[in-house]
Amino acid sequence: MAFLIGIDIGTSGTKTVIFDETGKTIAQATIEYPMAQPQNGWAEQAPEDWWNAVVGTVQKVLSESGVDAGDIRGIGLSGQMHGLVMLDENDQVIRPSIIWCDQRTAEECETITRLVGAERLIEITANPALTGFTASKILWVRKHEPRNYERCRSILLPKDYIRFRLTGERATEVSDASGMQLLDIGKRAWSSEVLDKLSVDRSLLATVYESPEITGGVSDSAARLTGLRAGTPVVGGAGDNAAAAVGTGVVSDGQSFTTIGSSGVVYAHTSEMHIDPKGRVHTFCCAVPGQWHVMGVTQGAGLSLKWFRDGFLQEVMETAELMGVSPYYLMDQMAEKVPIGSNRLLFLPYLMGERTPHLDPFARGVFFGLSGVHGKKDMIRAIMEGVSFSLKDCLEVIKGMDINVNIMRACGGGSGPFWRQMLADVYGCDVETTDSAQGPALGVALLAGAGTGVYSDVREACNAAIHTRSTNAPGKRSNEEYAKFYSLYRELYPNLKGSYSKLSTL
Ligand code: XUL
Repeated sequence: MAFLIGIDIGTSGTKTVIFDETGKTIAQATIEYPMAQPQNGWAEQAPEDWWNAVVGTVQKVLSESGVDAGDIRGIGLSGQMHGLVMLDENDQVIRPSIIWCDQRTAEECETITRLVGAERLIEITANPALTGFTASKILWVRKHEPRNYERCRSILLPKDYIRFRLTGERATEVSDASGMQLLDIGKRAWSSEVLDKLSVDRSLLATVYESPEITGGVSDSAARLTGLRAGTPVVGGAGDNAAAAVGTGVVSDGQSFTTIGSSGVVYAHTSEMHIDPKGRVHTFCCAVPGQWHVMGVTQGAGLSLKWFRDGFLQEVMETAELMGVSPYYLMDQMAEKVPIGSNRLLFLPYLMGERTPHLDPFARGVFFGLSGVHGKKDMIRAIMEGVSFSLKDCLEVIKGMDINVNIMRACGGGSGPFWRQMLADVYGCDVETTDSAQGPALGVALLAGAGTGVYSDVREACNAAIHTRSTNAPGKRSNEEYAKFYSLYRELYPNLKGSYSKLSTL
């Protein structure tokens, strides 16, 4: 039996899973780490925290599973996209990583648009200049921390920094590289034009592979630290969303999924490249070689609920610990007691600005309609509904691009039965789940299998390992009820837009 490892370097923690070749989970481990917010709208993490979490979780899954490291056929890496990791000439990390949800780079986005040209930028990178993407973070460091920029010899994405620590190779792959805004998305290669216009030296960047390709083997020193066998192949892997697509079997036209992790994403596979001329959804290379996907992103999905949990639900967390259940299980139960519309309370989940459809780094969260009748359970439900509405915004943009969305699946930490039913009701379509809840980790393990000959290609890997398990069908009455609140939700952002930008100047 061949075994495969998937490592997902997420925002709240790193999860490592050993699978067998049928996609069954043999062992899994997660280690969490913090996200620093040094200023309003900023978000940073320490790459060393990711590496320690990778070492700890790999050691744990190997020892708990009893699987011989020599039977691990390949390793796939997935992770939060867009984060900027800069290394100096000694390969030391220069500053904390500025991660995907950081919003400090509005000015740099204007600079990028001016230097490349708005239309040309979308033609090449398939996206407008966005604060979340890596290019604007590079320009920010160059402008605000010139000493750090001068010392920089390599620029890597979060999971590619882990690859570097595991294998010594500076490599990336097309799906994650797409989110740097330096890749020619149609050609699947770094864009000389964008690099020249932004004066970013190509030698700083990693070699680009397709997602299932082998990028290197585990080094002797990483093998000693982790317990892996030296030389174990590490494939390209994928950014967390392209990885989740493989892990939910979304690898052909007509297939799509919603994920609720720290961010929330609606993702649709496309065998041809489709671009939203207004730039409201991203077009990226996907993990199936030679194909693409579009996705809408809401910045604060699980992140909003976690924010509320950590700030206001201490007693729920303590009860959950005593009961040996997840706090989110108890929060679902609280929210279930509240009717649709949260007793006329709406939540705009823009804690970290918003991407789809507003592309506004200055947007911020709002509870709208707060009254003396509301308590914590109404607020929990309002957060879940607000995130669902923002995901519906994403779905509407994708449908408006004439992209076929026949099948909608759900994955991610927030895809429990209660939120899944809410999504089906809000979207007005069936929402399926698959056998494995492992999403990105499974996706990159399957890519590792496809790259090392366990499967002939990515689609065969999905056929071998992924089966639908259950379907949530929309309720007609609930759908109608949500539609009324969604319509009001849609009115709120345009009314607040001007006030958000004023707020940012205070
Ligand atoms: C995608 C994005 C997020 C992060 C974190 O563009 O920014 O989904 O990958 O999960």
